[in-house]
Amino acid sequence: MGTLAAEAEAMAGTLVEWRRDFHRYPELAFAEERTAAVVRAFLESAGIEVRACGGTGLRGVLRGGRPGRTVALRADMDALPVDEVADHGYRSQNSGVMHACGHDGHMAIVMGAARLLAARREAMAGNVVFLFQPAEESPPGGAARMIAEGALDGVDAIFGLHLWQPLPSGVVGLHAGATMAQADNFEVTVRGRSGHASQPNLTVDPVVAAAEVVIAAQTIVSRFTSPLEPVVVSFTTVHGGRVHNIIPDEVTMTGTVRTFDPATQLAVKRRLEEVCEATCRLFGASAAFTYIDGYPPLVNDPGSVDLVRRAAVRELGAAAVQDIAPVMGGEDFAYYLQRVPGAFALLGIGDGHPHPHHSARFDIDERVLPLGVRLLAAVALEALELA
Ligand code: NI
Repeated sequence: MGTLAAEAEAMAGTLVEWRRDFHRYPELAFAEERTAAVVRAFLESAGIEVRACGGTGLRGVLRGGRPGRTVALRADMDALPVDEVADHGYRSQNSGVMHACGHDGHMAIVMGAARLLAARREAMAGNVVFLFQPAEESPPGGAARMIAEGALDGVDAIFGLHLWQPLPSGVVGLHAGATMAQADNFEVTVRGRSGHASQPNLTVDPVVAAAEVVIAAQTIVSRFTSPLEPVVVSFTTVHGGRVHNIIPDEVTMTGTVRTFDPATQLAVKRRLEEVCEATCRLFGASAAFTYIDGYPPLVNDPGSVDLVRRAAVRELGAAAVQDIAPVMGGEDFAYYLQRVPGAFALLGIGDGHPHPHHSARFDIDERVLPLGVRLLAAVALEALELA
């Protein structure tokens, strides 16, 4: 047996093949049937016990030669409803569906780590659980369902990573504490009374009321929450009316709220509803308000972040590790971290790949795949040695 580095580099070609195969045949949330079949066949060939978990998800267990702790590694499996724009040879074959977030790479990395760890099972004290999770991209998501079906049974710690375009290739971004935001959605329908645009006085104009709602909602962040607490309130769609000379009956708007602190999240949610209702009342209109809680904030356990840092420094060198600021995006890895300690790292893939996550032109620097394998294998071994 060689070093993790030598073995991971030796499988670089295989990692690219795995990733491109997933990339060619992307599947949406809870429809990852082919994807799961490919992963299952690989895990079984590596001598790892596998069972279905969380719908299309999988839970694999690698048992070490001696008793010890149980550490979980997680990859997400779903793609996005995006039409890929690319002329490379591994373009999506499922029209309107694309691995535009890097989850294809996450699966290849965890499979690679599983292969390295399986080769060390006799010497290993404890077990490694491999979670291949469906449906990360939109709430309610696959993580909660995986947990409900026993994904974390007996698990002492959990680790995962996200390939991250904003970071240079090979850089491991770490943050202790609240690292990714709670990402909620809302919809408000402003109801007025339609009429001729030349006689606004005979109508209840929902367009003016809606405009005022958008403006009034800006004061939630500027005048209601603490300046030291990160919060985003964004209106992202506004729909109402059909022609220039009719004031419509209603205007529907949607948007998103991002927070890190649960008390702040609750306060902003209540305040936004009050602002919508009170502002509409001011104009004689009414508001129908719906708020959908997203994934909770992702909170990394500081001790687990230190563990990842030690493993990353040893395996990839100190220059590869960076402390990063929290990210306002959401991630359902948060649910695992509510139950067991662990950490979620970001791994840079940005060199030569300028298109952001969820773009129709998104792609990754595949040279990073072996680095991800080394990182997760080293993290699992380090976590087991704490027994
Ligand atoms: Ni993602």
